[in-house]
Amino acid sequence: MVGVLYIMKISFYNYKSLYVNNQKSYLRKIDKNLMTGEFILGKELEKFEEKICKYLDVKYCLGTSSATSAMEIGLASIPKNNKTEIILPSHTFVATIDAIYNAGFKPIVADIDNSGMINCEKLINLISNRTFGILAVNINGNSCNYDNLKLISKKYNVHIFEDNAQGFGTKYNNNFTGGIGIFGALSFYPTKILGCFGDGGAIVTNNYNIYTNAKKIRNHGRNIKGHVDQWGTNSRLDNVQAAILNYNLTKVEETIKKRITLAKLYFELLRNNKNIKFTHVANNSVIRHTFQNFEILVKKRNKLKNFLQDNGIETLIQWKSVPINKLKLPKFKNSVLKITSNYFKYCLCLPINNSLTEKEIHYICKKINLFYTK
Ligand SMILES: Cc1ncc(COP(=O)(O)O)c(C=O)c1O
Repeated sequence: MVGVLYIMKISFYNYKSLYVNNQKSYLRKIDKNLMTGEFILGKELEKFEEKICKYLDVKYCLGTSSATSAMEIGLASIPKNNKTEIILPSHTFVATIDAIYNAGFKPIVADIDNSGMINCEKLINLISNRTFGILAVNINGNSCNYDNLKLISKKYNVHIFEDNAQGFGTKYNNNFTGGIGIFGALSFYPTKILGCFGDGGAIVTNNYNIYTNAKKIRNHGRNIKGHVDQWGTNSRLDNVQAAILNYNLTKVEETIKKRITLAKLYFELLRNNKNIKFTHVANNSVIRHTFQNFEILVKKRNKLKNFLQDNGIETLIQWKSVPINKLKLPKFKNSVLKITSNYFKYCLCLPINNSLTEKEIHYICKKINLFYTK
């Protein structure tokens, strides 16, 4: 008997399903919102900002056009001194360094640890009397070590800012990330844990002065009376996107629970495979990891990726395997970061998204384990 070769098609993201799965509800929300005639800076956005404050337990939230813009506005909202440098980790999207550069600071790239987070020991060596702050990144839905970062902030008198674009719902010691630093940036890009159907973001803070400055900057530097009293930009989150986000926020805990369950299954099915290292700790009592990504370190990474592709499984190497310290950009000097170089030889993200099933995870893990027995 000839064996049947069974191939499942598993895409990394499933954009259309984000909409189709709740199409009627979305259409109702969008229609209701459009019928109010309030398209920009209306009640729906205010409602969303209040809900985010409640969910993340922060005092202030402002919807912005993206997380990139939220970081730029956040950095522009803080009083400047003679310090000109901001430290960021090597494992992040180009948006983080863009924001630092566009806000007029010099980016200094720090190495990571084996979980892909900023390496607190190594970053101390980068701190000088030029350091304004550290832009910490909660990559993959994991959390930085905020106990260490807070100690560093106090000892060296540097600010902690958060790029929480990949960390919606993540917790460190029961506190939501994004609300730990002096400000946090959130992303609502469609594939994020809390996503809309376009670009979107928010800045969250407990600092009243940052909030009032950011509110003006988001709207062309205009105060509540409409008078321009500082430089600004246009970074307003549309009301229609806010309506979609208000709806999705009601389901976000369910989404996170599902991702945690899927991640546990991956862990169970792969933990005995000696060719794989996990970038997170299972059953972590300090961090609630929300698995925006399920990133692992694997031997023969490129061969495994191709093998999985041939078996219908799409995977992702973040940033096309180019960490921030290796970006080729004008006025930016590359550096050698040992742990980063090693990490980016092996890292691979397996599919994890809202429409992925346990059956698909069994299939993916079966294929991975098979690859290493060949
Ligand atoms: C770590 C990180 N920072 C920043 C961003 C930028 O977010 P946005 O697209 O909302 O500007 C992203 C987007 O994927 C990200 O992954």
